[in-house]
Amino acid sequence: MSALARRTGSVNLGQGFPDWNPPEPLLAAASHAISHGDHQYPPVRGLPELRRAVSADLALRCGIEVDPETEVVITAGATEGLTAAILALVGEGDEVVFPEPFYDAYPAAVTMAGGVPVTVPLTGPDYVLDEAGLAAAVSPRTRMILLNTPNNPTGRVLTRPELDAVARTAAAHDLIVLVDEVYEHLVYDGREHLSPAAVPGMRSRTLTVGSAAKTFSATGWKVGWVSGPAELVGAVARVKQYLSFATQGPLQTAVVAGLNLPASYFADLRGAMERRRDLLCAGLTAAGFAVTRPEGGYFVLADASGLGVTDAADYADWLARHGKVVAIPGGTYFTDARSGAHLLRFAFCKTDEALRTAVARLSGLRDIADAYRAPASRGRTP
Ligand SMILES: Cc1ncc(COP(=O)(O)O)c(C=O)c1O
Repeated sequence: MSALARRTGSVNLGQGFPDWNPPEPLLAAASHAISHGDHQYPPVRGLPELRRAVSADLALRCGIEVDPETEVVITAGATEGLTAAILALVGEGDEVVFPEPFYDAYPAAVTMAGGVPVTVPLTGPDYVLDEAGLAAAVSPRTRMILLNTPNNPTGRVLTRPELDAVARTAAAHDLIVLVDEVYEHLVYDGREHLSPAAVPGMRSRTLTVGSAAKTFSATGWKVGWVSGPAELVGAVARVKQYLSFATQGPLQTAVVAGLNLPASYFADLRGAMERRRDLLCAGLTAAGFAVTRPEGGYFVLADASGLGVTDAADYADWLARHGKVVAIPGGTYFTDARSGAHLLRFAFCKTDEALRTAVARLSGLRDIADAYRAPASRGRTP
């Protein structure tokens, strides 16, 4: 979709990357590490100073104590952390249960491991995870529950009752819980991010995946981490050894600087993202989309039924050509693309200027909505 945005001169609200740089202290630390640092293979599990910083951060924010020596591994982004965890712990025919809609890397990783993705369909616009739905998805073959909070694409932040339901289900069936928390710092309206590993009884069965990507606006750095019980983290590290072997050293040093930033950095980021969310939600609503304000993360999953949309992929293409705004068709996040055929995902991790331009362009859409419905206006994307 980023290529489509470039081709059509659109504002790119598709892919989830910020259009600003990481904070200055991280850039300075990265430059210094490149000029004066060590350029050879870092340890497989990551630089000890970054593992200590991740451990301190988890203790401070989530009350989770992890030993940086044995219970943290640094990975090439959350993507490698999730994939290595799934490859390490899911065997041929094992089922992995996760809510739907989902981040599209999950079924791919489960399938690569020879596992079977089993989803818990959630109903929009609230996308609440309930215990009955979870229980219905679990079978004797289930090995793992995979969660993402704050969520891409729904913007949901799991609540304590939802996490308690996960904890009961996981304990009843002795399941591993893998949690993708890459948006952990991006929670809005005074909400708190609750880490499933901190729920009583969950620590011994939970692997938590984090990343510098979203917290420090550095999606291209690919520095992430996995924490949890030593035995599970050891299994992840053994697979990581044969994927990337090690994660880029100078950038690990820079992420230490990031995790040591004052609390005001994280609060300011949250505030700025909350404002951007509100700007985009107001614009989408005025343009005729039905929108539930995201509780966290980077994205709004907007319902375009009111605009006559029944094929989001077709509409996204039309929107790029005629509205000059790029969004991702909702079908991407469902097992059957038809389930998301009325949905589009818009990213708000963009500058105010980009969002204002997008909103101004979207404001004209109601007037040309009839044109979308007319087949003559369709055609190939330039
Ligand atoms: C839910 C979720 N998990 C993981 C990732 C990837 O993180 P990383 O860039 O650290 O691999 C993304 C990126 O968009 C994401 O949205």
